[in-house]
Amino acid sequence: MTSPLSTSLLHARTQDDVPWWRSAVIYQVYPRSWADSNGDGIGDLPGITSRLEHLAALGVDALWLSPFYVSPQADAGYDVADYRTVDPVFGSLSDADALVARAHELGLRVLVDLVPNHTSDEHIWFQAALAAGPGSRERARYLFRDGTGPDGSQPPNGWRSVFGGPAWERVTEPDGTPGQWYLHLFDVKQPDLDWTNPEVRAEFESVIRFWLDRGVDGFRIDVAHGMVKAEGLPEWTQEQELLHGADAHAPKPPYWDQEGVHDIYRDWHRIVEKYDGDRVLVAEAWVEPPERLARYVRDDELHQSFNFSYLVTPWRAEDLRDVITTSVRATDAVGAPTTWVLSNHDVIRHATRFGFEAGTKLPTGIGAHHEQPDREAGLRRARAATLVMLALPGSAYLYQGEELGLPEHTTLPDEVRQDPTWVRSSYDHRGRDGCRVPVPWEADAPSFGFGPTDAGWLPQPAEWRELALDQQRGVEGSTYEVYRQALRLRREHGLGLGSLEWVEGAFGRDVLTFVNDGVLVLANTGTTPVALPQGAKVLLGSGELAGSADQVLVPADVTVWARVR
Ligand code: BGC
Repeated sequence: MTSPLSTSLLHARTQDDVPWWRSAVIYQVYPRSWADSNGDGIGDLPGITSRLEHLAALGVDALWLSPFYVSPQADAGYDVADYRTVDPVFGSLSDADALVARAHELGLRVLVDLVPNHTSDEHIWFQAALAAGPGSRERARYLFRDGTGPDGSQPPNGWRSVFGGPAWERVTEPDGTPGQWYLHLFDVKQPDLDWTNPEVRAEFESVIRFWLDRGVDGFRIDVAHGMVKAEGLPEWTQEQELLHGADAHAPKPPYWDQEGVHDIYRDWHRIVEKYDGDRVLVAEAWVEPPERLARYVRDDELHQSFNFSYLVTPWRAEDLRDVITTSVRATDAVGAPTTWVLSNHDVIRHATRFGFEAGTKLPTGIGAHHEQPDREAGLRRARAATLVMLALPGSAYLYQGEELGLPEHTTLPDEVRQDPTWVRSSYDHRGRDGCRVPVPWEADAPSFGFGPTDAGWLPQPAEWRELALDQQRGVEGSTYEVYRQALRLRREHGLGLGSLEWVEGAFGRDVLTFVNDGVLVLANTGTTPVALPQGAKVLLGSGELAGSADQVLVPADVTVWARVR
């Protein structure tokens, strides 16, 4: 018995008039760690261009590049000092143009990161604000406030930085006296902009046009739920971690998900729709529940938002079913596609997350002294989870290296850590470096082919040799080949534009079963094998299947795609 769950895009459209992004698979490239062309140990744009064929061969539709703009790199480029120039560490503007051109030749679209909540403290605007003093037009672009207490030596309120510590920093005024305070929801080197200021709005509209004019296909919008703060900056003293900002039941901090952000997105929508080629705006918004998140992708706002509720769901059939159902319902209600994601540069890679018992509360970054994951189980479940994700209608996001089955680096020496979270949490939260380690391409090359030398801004674990692309390409059953086949089948069967029907009952509560346009997807999250229905023709398994030709068995932690019609 099946129970249908519609997806709105199906009702009127044919495949040809559906914008590309509604079903796209988009691959996140973290520029520091993908490919280094000059051997300085930091990945760069020419390196990315030289490896784009990998993405075409893998079969994704687009890539999204994390920031490569001029930046002191206090938060790995999410602290932008000049939004229109490429940081020399990553190359030049003409390297960016060459990357976009080559990607387009290969049929790949390119999304770039837009960081509008804050600038770097080295941005010309912030430097001018420091020099100009209180009450100036320059300060009004940021959130400067007088301190509290008799001499203003206490911060304006008790807001906490996402990376730890207070969210306010006191400045020294041009005359040398201790002065005002400025808000930084992230690092002290990332002052928040004041989005009620028309100058700020005009500047970002211009930045958006700048990159659209250079041919990019869209933007991923950083901290899209944080740009507008509640009027009067009301008190809020709870710790606020990036990844724990999305609890549906907890009271909402006065700086997340405020109504005013939607006006900004309506303005941006109007800009983007004037360009040809279905350009796209994607929200990084840690907002729950899904109905609340869906407000970001209403018809006249952004096009997609990352589905972090899905990302944080454990490998458990019941939980997966719930989150998939609520996500699809919520986006259907506003006519947008649902998105799916399992890993990115801010979270523990899913091959490692799933190596812990479902429901384990993991630290913010795993260090050598923490409990270590079961690597084999983690990879097995990660592959199974990926096959669930890639069979769902809507758009999916992959994070570089997951197609190789890369785990988190969970034993990085503390002295190499670079994530500001580590320092700002007073060396309590190890942070996100473990998911940002340079990618292995060739087993026997220096830095496993990341660059021409052994240099790497973070060390690669020796065991990654066997995960290098050249060890997996053409090897049946390798993680890379499973991803490649899945992407090919997804395309052939139109799964991204498909519909979803739950198959009820037959398999028990540990098994997630649905049909998408004639393809049965069965994910066994339990501990005992499950029989595939007779007559179902296997298309792909995330791991080896058992049983016989007449009676295929799907082992624990394996997902299978099978043709049923
Ligand atoms: C990015 C992070 C970054 C933060 C501040 C995020 O959500 O994904 O990597 O540290 O915004 O820009």
